[in-house]
Amino acid sequence: MKIAIIPGDGIGKEIIEQAKKVLKAASVKYKFDFEYEEVLLGGAAVDATGVPLPDKTVEVCKKSDAVLLGAVGGPKWDSLPSKLRPEAGLLGIRKALGVFANLRPAILFPELISASNLKPEVLGGGLDIMIVRELIGGAYFGEKNRIDIEGGKKAWDTISYTSFEIDRITRKAFEIARKRNNKLTLVDKANVLESSKLWREVVGNIAKEYEDVEINYMYVDNASMQLIRDPKQFDVILTENMFGDILSDEASMLTGSLGMLPSASVRGDSFGLYEPVHGSAPDIAGQNKANPIGTIMSVAMMLKYSFNMEQAYVDIKNAISKVLEEGYRTGDIALEGSKLVGTEEMGDLIVNNL
Ligand code: IPM
Ligand code: MG
Repeated sequence: MKIAIIPGDGIGKEIIEQAKKVLKAASVKYKFDFEYEEVLLGGAAVDATGVPLPDKTVEVCKKSDAVLLGAVGGPKWDSLPSKLRPEAGLLGIRKALGVFANLRPAILFPELISASNLKPEVLGGGLDIMIVRELIGGAYFGEKNRIDIEGGKKAWDTISYTSFEIDRITRKAFEIARKRNNKLTLVDKANVLESSKLWREVVGNIAKEYEDVEINYMYVDNASMQLIRDPKQFDVILTENMFGDILSDEASMLTGSLGMLPSASVRGDSFGLYEPVHGSAPDIAGQNKANPIGTIMSVAMMLKYSFNMEQAYVDIKNAISKVLEEGYRTGDIALEGSKLVGTEEMGDLIVNNL
């Protein structure tokens, strides 16, 4: 296995170190060989090369079987023009690799029910929602500009989708729903947006090929409310890029902490880009405080989706459960009486259990 590793900025380095430990432990346990190359992205790349996405990074990622990414961004680069910001590097690598389907599972480990802001009754003993977010279209990549007008300025971003872009991710979402509980909810704003109307049309047509899957349609404002009111009604949520960005952060809070959530960005073959949903958390960078679980779960997703190692996924997830069960917590998920540990110890505990 050839893996490109991108630590990125902020807590990126620390959490990626833990992920590497888990990867090494898994390679021993499941007897596979892997080699990796570390490449630059985001602020680290700006500092070293002047651009957030160096050509070499794209090249190395394209030659790899999978990419593991920490996080990018930080106040140091916030005042740069949009094209030079770390975020532009992240969007650029997603686009360059063509990973259009971003899978963001919001899984609540039963041990963390008390870390969630919701009442235990609402969570009903656990939670497992899969958000399928379109990743390389919509407002993020549509036509945008800023011009001077008389007495002021004008800026715009465009949400545009082709039926092909909607088609390919919809099929992916239906396939995922089939492997889960056969329930799919399309989240859009079809009462206002033309692009959302096209989503409904395309999804409605494809739904006829998947009659075993129950399809629901929900406006995004309602969906954001329903996620808090009754999250258990959802299984797979399919949505466009920006709605998916927002709803996945919201869903993460149901699980106790943004630090817990992994993601996989895939395109249809076995290749994938794996990254935690959280950002680079510059305020705690370099302090051994960050929660590495989202990144370690991203490794688990990589083994499952890119290398077909379902058992490794299950075992890593169980190793995490075990550590939580034993009461160990990083600061973000700690409660009174928990055994507070740092990033590194959390990594070691998970490796030991694996
Ligand atoms: C995410 C992040 C990114 C996004 C940012 C950092 C550009 O919020 O992965 O959810 O909006 O996609
Ligand atoms: Mg986001």
